[in-house]
Amino acid sequence: MGVRVDGRTFYLETANTLYQMKADEYGVLKHLWYGAKTGQDMEYLLDYPDVGFSGNIYDAENNRNYSLDTLPLEYATEGIGDFRIPAVGVRYPNGASALDLRYESYRIEPGKYSIPGLPAVYAEEYEAETVAITLKDTASDIRVVLKYGVLPAFDVITRSAVIINDGTQAVMVNKAHSLCLDIPYGHWEWVHFHGRWTKEREPERRPLLHGIQQSSSKRGTSSHQQNPVVLLCREGCTETSGTCIGAVLMYSGCFQTQIEYDQLNQTRVVMGMNTHTFSWELKPGNSFYTPEVILSQSTTGFETLSHQFHRVIREHVCRGKYKMIERPVLINNWEATYFDFNEDKLVEIAKGAAELGVDMLVMDDGWFGKRDSDSKGLGDWYVNQEKLPNGLEGLVKKVNDLGLQFGIWVEPEMVSEDSDLFRAHPEWAIQIPGRKPTRSRFQLVLDMSRKDVQDYLFDALSRILSSANISYVKWDFNRSVSDWYSEALPAARQKEMSHRFVLELYDLLERLTSAFPNVLFEGCCGGGGRFDAGILYYCPQIWCSDDTDAFERTQIQYGTSFFYPISAMGSHVSAVPNHQTGRVTPLKSRGITAMSGSFGFELDLNKLTDEEKEEVKLQIALFKEYGPLIHNGKYYRLSDPFREKYAIWEYVSRDAKKVLVHALIFRTEPNMLRYPIRLRGLDPDKKYRLREDGVIYSGNALMNGGILIPKVWGDYVPVEMYLEAIDA
Ligand code: DGJ
Repeated sequence: MGVRVDGRTFYLETANTLYQMKADEYGVLKHLWYGAKTGQDMEYLLDYPDVGFSGNIYDAENNRNYSLDTLPLEYATEGIGDFRIPAVGVRYPNGASALDLRYESYRIEPGKYSIPGLPAVYAEEYEAETVAITLKDTASDIRVVLKYGVLPAFDVITRSAVIINDGTQAVMVNKAHSLCLDIPYGHWEWVHFHGRWTKEREPERRPLLHGIQQSSSKRGTSSHQQNPVVLLCREGCTETSGTCIGAVLMYSGCFQTQIEYDQLNQTRVVMGMNTHTFSWELKPGNSFYTPEVILSQSTTGFETLSHQFHRVIREHVCRGKYKMIERPVLINNWEATYFDFNEDKLVEIAKGAAELGVDMLVMDDGWFGKRDSDSKGLGDWYVNQEKLPNGLEGLVKKVNDLGLQFGIWVEPEMVSEDSDLFRAHPEWAIQIPGRKPTRSRFQLVLDMSRKDVQDYLFDALSRILSSANISYVKWDFNRSVSDWYSEALPAARQKEMSHRFVLELYDLLERLTSAFPNVLFEGCCGGGGRFDAGILYYCPQIWCSDDTDAFERTQIQYGTSFFYPISAMGSHVSAVPNHQTGRVTPLKSRGITAMSGSFGFELDLNKLTDEEKEEVKLQIALFKEYGPLIHNGKYYRLSDPFREKYAIWEYVSRDAKKVLVHALIFRTEPNMLRYPIRLRGLDPDKKYRLREDGVIYSGNALMNGGILIPKVWGDYVPVEMYLEAIDA
């Protein structure tokens, strides 16, 4: 396992997969294989057809069968006869754009490479190996180093590229994608995750069409509308069988995934920063680093693929004190009060919550400046004395005295026109000279690509975090970015702005999380509009959606779970009728749905009946017991809540001794037929006792025969079954 080089053939082997490429006699780096381990050089599968109208490289002389337009390539370029979609493109001072990359050398190092200024998978030296392959253009002084991180035990390969200008003149990098994956064989289907605000990450599956299909964001964030992941599968792939390949881009800004199904029925996937909002002037002697892509592959369906991504993201992307430990059960006042709160109201909410066992109060939007509504105050990060007469310190002390930790909401990258910050620094808001800026939720976006803006935010946020005993930050972002223009950049470099925005955001997050290592940071973007692996590098959890309806959440969390671990999904129990849908669901259903994430509450618990309060106490106690199983165990999607009348999911501990099944039966029918759910991931030879009635089943019976869903009454009915292995 690990990296092996045979001549000029590279074998990147993980426990169950092989990634293979070869620098051929012309120095072209061909992609040979990404799939199950085969134990051999896969070049024998390559075909060299003369399909006509596909050119031949000059050094192939009169060989009409050697064409870059038909071969699987490791990092495709433009301008030299590969007419498929390129991964990289540069423009020289003379206006030409060709790049002909040929193999130069390689280097293998223990451990996992890192990327300056960008989030990347990290690992101990014994857990990973890095191979760096250097390619050089045949005519210019551009070099590209392709970096691969191999994490054998995780079945994960990472990729990133470095573009280096060794010449004496600047060049313009127009495209610098992180991934180029050619898959010459098979009919593949594409599952992509689309949505909108409050409806994030709905899987949509379809066969590839000839030509180019893409998912992308130009919004300055990874977006609610598309997610920066790719899932390709062979026809017929299911949760438990079939081949699939997944890729996750660790990037929180404008991205682009393009998939081309070409004239020879070959598939190419490229993925990286969106070319619509990107170009970069690469000065002599400088290097450009692309964001990282995490790749994984499975021949046993989506479930295995998800398990691989869950593990690597939880253990090797998320960082900090809260990475592996159970997070506090929090209560957030947003849906309880919106902007209408003051110290007394918050303390009342905290008091009620403390009595029921909650760990932390989070004060949401509205505590600063003149923020009585969403039309003003953003940027004025000092306490609104009318609402909080004793300041943050006074409020936090009262909350702490109740036995609760305290958390706070911020939206640092934004500014309201009605704010002291905007009055002092109108030039910090993004706007194109001579045009009125586009408003969204009444607010403008700060030009994060400016260092002075970042420094201001670091000081302002540090002041808040040092002013009281604050244990948690919810970092929000409530609009898409438009009107891209930065006063700090010359005309020719305006398209650097969107990437610089993300780089400065990462830098700010790095500075703050390092300065305040005990604070838990939760990402947010109007719910799940920036739910990506880049943010998870700084914030181990992200508010999954502004939709808190239990039924809707089963779908949103189902879609999110294909790539992201359960511990990353911010999820709360809220009031009924639900504020987004008007739907009424049982409290217990809201509880088990919120447990499939970082559990918390989003309502005033004082308004519950005594019976409901008892249920809340029970939910918190259960979550304290089940939390480690939910977050460290393996997660199984036992139904598809978009297609079936129920959502059923299961957590199994890594030693297969503890099993928790949760379900929501959406609609009950009269004369209900009972059906068994077949569990997965158990030890077939173990015996398991169902806690609810003490009945004992064998692992084999539970996985092959299943367990009957209890008869239920009503709609959105919760089902909970907990099983534990017993000594035979
Ligand atoms: C959007 C978030 O997702 C909500 O939870 C809340 O924090 C609001 N913003 C506050 O403006």
